[in-house]
Amino acid sequence: MNTISISRRKFAQLLGVGAACAVARPTLSLAAPPAAETAATGIVRLSSNENPYGPSATALKAMTDAFGLSCRYPDDTAEPLIDALAKHNGVNRDQILLGDGSGEILKVCAETFTGPLNNGKNAAGGRGKLVVADPTFEAILAHAKIYGADITRVPLTLTFAHDLPKMTSAAKEGLVYICNPNNPTASITPKADLAAFIAKAPRQTMILVDEAYHHYADSPDYESVIPLIKDNPNLIVARTFSKIYGMAGLRCGYCVAQREVIERMRPHQSWDSVNLMALAAATASLNDPDQVENGRRLNSEAKAFVIGELDKMGYEQIPSQANFIMFNVKRPVVPLIQALKQRNVQVGRLFPALPNHMRLTIGKKTEMEAFVAAFRQVTA
Ligand SMILES: Cc1ncc(COP(=O)(O)O)c(C=O)c1O
Repeated sequence: MNTISISRRKFAQLLGVGAACAVARPTLSLAAPPAAETAATGIVRLSSNENPYGPSATALKAMTDAFGLSCRYPDDTAEPLIDALAKHNGVNRDQILLGDGSGEILKVCAETFTGPLNNGKNAAGGRGKLVVADPTFEAILAHAKIYGADITRVPLTLTFAHDLPKMTSAAKEGLVYICNPNNPTASITPKADLAAFIAKAPRQTMILVDEAYHHYADSPDYESVIPLIKDNPNLIVARTFSKIYGMAGLRCGYCVAQREVIERMRPHQSWDSVNLMALAAATASLNDPDQVENGRRLNSEAKAFVIGELDKMGYEQIPSQANFIMFNVKRPVVPLIQALKQRNVQVGRLFPALPNHMRLTIGKKTEMEAFVAAFRQVTA
């Protein structure tokens, strides 16, 4: 391994408080998370569906151990992660594409399947086409719009599932984006409906299922569709290390698909797009047996607390299968978002399809207590 002459302490000083935590306390456990930034900034951040408990202790250690490799391009460091993900998902290594966050995977899908190298066209010679739910995570819409795609938004059903029959008829040769569990509603699309939709969709319709919140879903009606990839050459599944693995600031995601699909997507990506620290941390995280289990448990506990408080106050929530909830505030949400911000509590943005609903990330219990206190004030 390479070494660099800068000491770890000095490097930590250069990087500031967050890195100092990581360097000085590499054996942190989830039960004793790093000092919350809330204490330093006074801001309670419940706006971006992050995991407040941070990366696994093994990931923190792997990053400190990787400092000395920072002068190298990350290809060698990517190999063990690709191997580990292939094993983890029961696929071959040529079925994995890493991304600079799963956000990069969404961008690459938009470009590959709706963009200019597709001649901005679908197989019938029309404009590239993207079909999404409304509301859903908007990143892919923004990318497809730039590539000139024709975008169809299909409202969620009354149970906040994807309306798959309507999406099928809108799709034809395009790209269909299915976020399951869905952001911002935290709702799921039942596994049987999704499997039937994938089986029936024409092979020219590419289906991207975004499973960013997979690890938080525990409903018997939810299932990952990764096992369906072997029979469906038009299926792509995106995953991220930003949520249960607590690595949102590090940027690492990936997708799984058949080899030919990965080969179509790869040329649209920046070379070496995933940084070495993220690769080291992601590989180590997969080997930490406690990260997922603890993350789920702590999320459920804090979620149960805030749901109980909202129930007492009479605010109905959409059943949540994620690390955030969406609930009906019974009035326009924007003034409430602003009033909470003035009290240093940041919650999710407006989702125009649900203007009276607030999206709230599940933070630590203390953060949820701060939210409840502020919410009581702004709704009084
Ligand atoms: C559904 C969904 N997909 C993808 C992303 C992007 O995640 P990242 O780029 O951090 O992997 C997010 C981020 O919040 C998300 O909610």
